[in-house]
Amino acid sequence: MKEQNFYKVCRLSDLRDRVGRRFLIPASDNSGDEIEIALFKVDDDVYALSNICPHQHTALIYDGFIENNCVVCPAHGWMFELKTGKQPTGAKGLDVYPVKIQNGEVYVAAYSKKFNW
Ligand code: FES
Repeated sequence: MKEQNFYKVCRLSDLRDRVGRRFLIPASDNSGDEIEIALFKVDDDVYALSNICPHQHTALIYDGFIENNCVVCPAHGWMFELKTGKQPTGAKGLDVYPVKIQNGEVYVAAYSKKFNW
């Protein structure tokens, strides 16, 4: 697997359990694009998803609440699994990005749309 470029987003201690935060970070492919992510800490795990809801393209996912390992878009209630970004029906939903925690810092490797597969 190709080595990914992780970007340091924040400290782990900056995240409150089940309270999302949004960040604009540079794409890991050095394309110059910026990607808006929603970051969630749930118990011992941290998840990075696209902050843009595919329903009406509102940038509100970070403000969603967590229910059954899903984030619920606050605009109209669409749900997305934190791990996969998929809707519970299996339909495609949000892009998800790899996260790693090192020395208490949270790193994310986010790719712009054209590099998703
Ligand atoms: S914009 Fe997210 S559910 Fe409508």
